[in-house]
Amino acid sequence: MTDIKQASAMLKWLRVVLRVLLVIMVLMTGRLLYSRVSYSTLTKRQMDLHNDAQTAQGSSVQRSPRSSNAGVSLSVVHDIVLWTSHRRGEVGIFRVPVLTYTPKGNLVAITEGRRKSKSDENPKVFAVKRSTDGGATWSPSQWIVDDGMSRFKRCSYIGTIFVDDTTATIFLMYVFCEFCPTRSLMLMNSTDDGITWGRPRNITDQVGKEHATHPSPGYGIQKKHDPAKGRLIVCGHGFHDGKGLVLLLSDDHGVTWRHGAFVPSVPFLNIQKGHFDPDECQPVEFPDGSVHIVVRNQMVYKCNCKMIMRSFDGGETLPRQYMLLDRTLIEPRITSGVWLHNGTMFYSGPNTRLKRSKLYIRWSHDFGRTWTSGTEIWGDLAGYSTFTMLPQDNDHIYMLYERGTTEYFDEIAVTKLKISSSTTHDPR
Ligand SMILES: *[C@@H]1O[C@H](CO)[C@@H](O)[C@H](O)[C@H]1NC(C)=O
Ligand SMILES: *[C@@H]1O[C@H](CO)[C@@H](O)[C@H](O)[C@H]1NC(C)=O
Ligand SMILES: *[C@@H]1O[C@H](CO)[C@@H](O)[C@H](O)[C@H]1NC(C)=O
Repeated sequence: MTDIKQASAMLKWLRVVLRVLLVIMVLMTGRLLYSRVSYSTLTKRQMDLHNDAQTAQGSSVQRSPRSSNAGVSLSVVHDIVLWTSHRRGEVGIFRVPVLTYTPKGNLVAITEGRRKSKSDENPKVFAVKRSTDGGATWSPSQWIVDDGMSRFKRCSYIGTIFVDDTTATIFLMYVFCEFCPTRSLMLMNSTDDGITWGRPRNITDQVGKEHATHPSPGYGIQKKHDPAKGRLIVCGHGFHDGKGLVLLLSDDHGVTWRHGAFVPSVPFLNIQKGHFDPDECQPVEFPDGSVHIVVRNQMVYKCNCKMIMRSFDGGETLPRQYMLLDRTLIEPRITSGVWLHNGTMFYSGPNTRLKRSKLYIRWSHDFGRTWTSGTEIWGDLAGYSTFTMLPQDNDHIYMLYERGTTEYFDEIAVTKLKISSSTTHDPR
C-alpha cells in the first residue's frame, strides 16, 4: 500500500516538474523565434549604414553645427509664432502641428487646440491658419473640428495633411475616439485652397476596423513617379488591438481607401521597452519612385534612433530586408520632419536621445545614407516638427514646430529658411 502511495506521489511530482520544464521550453523557443523575426533582418543593413556614416564623417561631412554644411547652407528669413499655449481660457494648449503648401502656392497650418489639459486624450479643436504671402503674415485661427466639452475619450487626434495636386484638393485625415471600442478614421477636405473645409467623412469601413489607425502627424504624399503614379499615401501608426505601422492608399484621388503595407510591432500586444514598435512615420518619394519612410522608434528598439523603411511597389509592401536603424538620426522618441528637394533630403528633430530639446535641421545629399551635422534652430525645449516647400519657390523651406522654455510646447512657430547652395567646403 505505502509503496503504491509513494509511487503515485512520485508520479504526481514528476508530472509537475515535466510541466514546468515544458513551459520553460515553450517560453525559450518563443523568445528565440521573436529575436529571429525582429533582429536578424535589421542587423546587416544597420551595420552598413553605420559604417557609411563613419566613413563620411572622416571625409566630406562637416562636424561643427556652426559651419556651413557641405552642399547647402540655410539662413533664417523669418520666424513667426502661430499659436501660444497660454494654459488658460477655452483652449489652453496647442500641440501637434501639421503644415502644407496649397494648390495655389499658399501655406496652410493646422494644429490641435486642447481644452482641458496638455494630455493627448482631451477634447480638442483643430485650428487652421493660412498664409498667402510666403509665410510673412497669417490669418486668424479658424476652427474646423470641435469636440466640444465631450468626455475625454470621445475626442479627435491630428492627423496627416496632404494635397492631391491633380484635383487641387487639400485633405486632413485624423482619428476620432482612438481609445474607444470602435475608433473612427475621418477624412475632410478643402477644394478652395484651404479657406473652407467640408464635413469630415468616416472612412473606417473602407480600410477595415482592424486597420483604422492614427494617421501620423506630418504630411501624406501623392506619388509623382511610377509605380502607382498619382496614388495618395498616408502613413499611420497604432491599431485597436496592437501596435505597428500601416500605409493607407487611395488610387482615385481620395474617394476610396484601402490599406497597403502593414508592419506590426513584435510582439503585436503587450509591447515593452526594447521591443520593435514602429510609430509615427513620415514618407517621402525618391526620384526612382520608391517610398522612403522615417519612423519613430517608440520602444527604443536597439537604439534611441530612427527606423527607416522602404517600399518599391507604391506602398503595398515594406520588405523586412530594407528596414534599418539610422544611428545618426538620434531621437527622444518623437515624430520628425522630412523633406526631399532637388536631391537634398532635409530632416528636423531634437538632436538628443532623451529629452525633447535642441531642434536641429540636418540634410543629406545621398538620400539619407549620410547626414551633415546640420544647424541648430532652437537650443531650448522643442518637440514635433514638419516641413513644406511652395511648388513655385525652390529657394525656401518652411518648418513648423513646437518649442518653448518651460515646456516644449509653449508655442508653435513657423520658420522660413533660405536654401543656398554652397560649393565651398568648410576649412578644417
Ligand atoms: C465610423 O464608422 C465606424 C464603422 O462603421 C463606426 O463604428 C463609428 O461609430 C463611426 N464613427 C463616427 C464618428 O461616425
Ligand atoms: C470632400 O468633402 C466633401 C464635403 O464633405 C465630400 O462631399 C467629398 O466627398 C469629399 N471628397 C473626397 C475626395 O473625400
Ligand atoms: C538643384 O541643385 C543643383 C545643384 O545640385 C543646382 O545647381 C540647381 O540650381 C538646383 N535646382 C533647383 C531647381 O533648385
